[in-house]
Amino acid sequence: MNFRQLALTAITTFSVLNVMAQKNKTIVVQTDKITAQVQPEMWGVFFEDINMGADGGIYAELIKNRSFEFYKPLMGWTTQGLRVKEGDILVLNRKETHSNNPRYLHVNSTGAKRGDMSITNEGFKGIGVKKGLRYDFSVLYRQATAGVKLHAELIDSTGKVLGSAVLNPERTTQQWESQSVSFTANETVQKAKFNLWFEGEGQIDLDMISLFPGDTWKNRKGGLRADMVQMLADMKPGFIRFPGGCIVEGHELSTRYQWKKTIGPVESRELIVNRWNTEFAHRPSPDYYQTFGLGFYEYFQLSEDIGAEALPILNCGMACQFNTAELVPLDELDPYIQDALDLIEFANGDINSPWGKVRAEMGHPAPFNLKMMGIGNENWGPQYLERLALFTKALKSKYPDIRLINSSGTDPVGERFDLLNTPLRKMKADIIDEHYYRSPQWFLDNAKRYDGYDRNGSKVFAGEYAAQSISTTNPKNQNNWQCAIAEAAFMTGLERNAGVVHMASYAPLFANAEGWQWTPDMIWVDNLHVYGTPNYYVQKLYSLNKGTDVVSILSNNKVIAGQDSLYASAVIDRKKKEVIIKVINASATAINRNITIKGKYKLAAEGTLTQMQNDLKAVNTFKDAIHVSPKDEGLTIKNNTVVLNAAPYSFSLIRIPMN
Ligand code: AHR
Repeated sequence: MNFRQLALTAITTFSVLNVMAQKNKTIVVQTDKITAQVQPEMWGVFFEDINMGADGGIYAELIKNRSFEFYKPLMGWTTQGLRVKEGDILVLNRKETHSNNPRYLHVNSTGAKRGDMSITNEGFKGIGVKKGLRYDFSVLYRQATAGVKLHAELIDSTGKVLGSAVLNPERTTQQWESQSVSFTANETVQKAKFNLWFEGEGQIDLDMISLFPGDTWKNRKGGLRADMVQMLADMKPGFIRFPGGCIVEGHELSTRYQWKKTIGPVESRELIVNRWNTEFAHRPSPDYYQTFGLGFYEYFQLSEDIGAEALPILNCGMACQFNTAELVPLDELDPYIQDALDLIEFANGDINSPWGKVRAEMGHPAPFNLKMMGIGNENWGPQYLERLALFTKALKSKYPDIRLINSSGTDPVGERFDLLNTPLRKMKADIIDEHYYRSPQWFLDNAKRYDGYDRNGSKVFAGEYAAQSISTTNPKNQNNWQCAIAEAAFMTGLERNAGVVHMASYAPLFANAEGWQWTPDMIWVDNLHVYGTPNYYVQKLYSLNKGTDVVSILSNNKVIAGQDSLYASAVIDRKKKEVIIKVINASATAINRNITIKGKYKLAAEGTLTQMQNDLKAVNTFKDAIHVSPKDEGLTIKNNTVVLNAAPYSFSLIRIPMN
């Protein structure tokens, strides 16, 4: 063979190999090869009052310690003025008669003008004030003789008034009365304070000193912060898990979450300490309490508002095992089980049933249609199984259709996990809750985690997960693109296995930039702003593009779960008539692939490519809130094939109309 022949043979061989290699690298989607159904509630959110998620967060109350029940009664408040003498402003405690809300303020007023006598509240890390917005001040008061006027005002750090109103309480008897007045702010200030000054001679008792912005979600009185709810609504989550999280368990049993104490008039909801108050020595939060202004009724209402299934998690007779690990003896578990039974009646019961009546009286005669409930949060050990068995027996015999979610403990592997997972599967648990706070690499390595799970066994709820950029509970953890893209890659495995994984939620959900205990978190807020992390946008892309059926997507006849650092899943949406393909390139180099879509459906000539792409260290901030966020562009489909140029470290989502 001469040199020319040799060169020709080499070129031909190379071309053939190249074509073969390219063919092997073609991704094939088969739209009529359905491998699982996607549950409508597949992608949801996990809400816990951690990081000032509720009080000082989504619950829009602006006054901290409004009823003087914190361990230091005047925490958050200062009293001042030229005429204030010792004994003029007192905290009284009527615990014997009002155990839910024992303390109130007794004021002996001698004030004549501003500066004489006042009390000031610092708010939760200050009070965010918006120019032109209405603020609603309300108070519970009683005074035997009319005479003391209340001047309510928002002030800036120099004492300048940003808006004010006068409330002239009418003469009352010894009954507590509620009165309110509104005013408009004339400036935007990030960290204002609330000041109440007294004018007139007389004695007045005050409780539940409250201030709400006029722009709450759905304009509800005493409602939720609209911008935070909107972030959730925009995701169209399939469910809301509430109220946690470890908060369900409590540091000890006495501080566990008890739903019955969170409903009814807000002034009767007994406040307790928030268990995250002292959890981390490096992030002390001594003023973190749960007022339950956001209680179970409001959780159900929120779920309904945004079209999500409610998923309450109840205490199973165990306090947090990382803390006190207190247990309720088995023969004293009945009240706990009764709480669970009553909750179903509260949510779904007829208005003539005792708890259905309570719901109706609170303003919601129609049932909330509760379909599932978690027994225990992150509990583990044989003690959990013993208690769970009693709960399951009672709940299933009365409400066989309610799906029960069981805990598999704190970790997705190891002895603790196996000791629960194996018996729970034998018992045919409806749904098993798995938690993983792991490294980004763990998420990449575990994209096939559910490929081998029994399709006919218990279903999985990936109830809490988030990639940790450094290590779990490390205060330097970041919501960076490295974590978000690893989660996106892992989620292809959740989606591919939607026949096993019925629900999933990132955790935690909210964090106040000044008042957090745990990081990373999906959405960060301050007094006036809110931004979604890269992780938020990943969750949102999945949730808004969940489809109805999982379809086959293969490369070289294999699922795409890490080969060449690619991860992929595909669904069709029967209602929207689309095929949706998700491809993650977790490598530092761009990767080109032809994606051929086979099947009986005819594809449109144009589709949409939504991409998220960035450096691994990239984050969003208040100043650059959408630095890492999805961008849309058009996409052409030729011969049932799209050419995907997957940028380095990118998440590509392709949507193609079909019929
Ligand atoms: O999401 C933060 C905490 O992590 C949850 O409260 C708990 O369930 C888990 O340990």
